[in-house]
Amino acid sequence: MAEARPTLIFKSKPMQEIDELINAMAPSDANALIVGESGVGKEVIANAIHARSRRAEKPMVKLNCAAFPQTMIEGELFGYVKGAFTGAMHDFPGMIAAADGGTLFLDEISDMPAELQTRFLRVLQEREYRPLGSTQTMKADFRAIASSNRPIPQAIAENRLRSDLYYRLNTFQIEVPPLRKRKQDIPVLIAAFVRQFAQQLGKPEPDIAPEAFQKLLDYSWPGNVRELQNAIEYAVVLARQGMIGVKELPTEIQLPAALQQAEIAGKPRSGVQSLDDVERTAIIQALAECHGNKKKAAELLGIQRPTLYNKMKRYAIQL
Ligand SMILES: Nc1ncnc2c1ncn2[C@@H]1O[C@H](COP(=O)(O)OP(=O)(O)OP(=O)(O)O)[C@@H](O)[C@H]1O
Ligand SMILES: [Mg+2]
Repeated sequence: MAEARPTLIFKSKPMQEIDELINAMAPSDANALIVGESGVGKEVIANAIHARSRRAEKPMVKLNCAAFPQTMIEGELFGYVKGAFTGAMHDFPGMIAAADGGTLFLDEISDMPAELQTRFLRVLQEREYRPLGSTQTMKADFRAIASSNRPIPQAIAENRLRSDLYYRLNTFQIEVPPLRKRKQDIPVLIAAFVRQFAQQLGKPEPDIAPEAFQKLLDYSWPGNVRELQNAIEYAVVLARQGMIGVKELPTEIQLPAALQQAEIAGKPRSGVQSLDDVERTAIIQALAECHGNKKKAAELLGIQRPTLYNKMKRYAIQL
């Protein structure tokens, strides 16, 4: 599958540093581990490492360990010969072979079954492997890049990532900060995505109204760059008369900042909450659901509007 490989777009200091690290380490054959929340751009970074390496003309092969049925990962990775197991109707070379001379990207490494992690570590050490059911040893020539959206100490503590494999992959660790911690990247990402989707839709590039732009800057982006990209696609589709206003943004981004926190706080938490917390959360959720309409929120909560105003004041809920 020939996918468009987007270039890394950034402006912030931490991303500049990552870009410099990629430049420094890409030409070597060193393994890399890329860590960060979902949607921060781990795959874009893996692509950049490959593209800036001496392996760039060879394939970059990606195995998503989370999306693949665990029982099939072994065969996908190592390949198999006809008859190696029920259903192996023909020889299959596998991804290590497909990545020959290039880069193997193991996405979500902590979702790889433990015993397979051990086998894979052996391939990294010995630089050879055997397809399932085969007696023939094959040379493994690939650079390994792995990703994890779980913090590494946690993945190791939960026995999801074998520490010996981790040390082997961790020659270079790239920690990608969430978008909310590098807001300087937001404007350049917006500009690139507006251009991209306007082109795709065959529309002229819309402008963004200042209030809408401010909303995009203020939002906390729990889904990181992927969420921003989706939001801009949505906005470009809805843009009218060449303009993206607040109304053309997805509703969660339109919400005032106080309500966005509520969306996060509203997720089930462990432990007992105080009644005040419960009440505060219920009010914020009602307001969020009613898009800030206090009359409707009061109805939803079964209280009078003045009572709602009092409680909002008491809990310092500002719209
Ligand atoms: N710095 C960036 N420049 C351009 N596009 C980016 C950047 N970061 C992320 N993107 C885009 O955002 C989307 C998500 O990025 P990517 O798939 O690399 O994230 P991820 O960290 O691998 O997420 P997940 O953990 O969910 O797999 C992609 O469409 C990607 O093209
Ligand atoms: Mg990814």
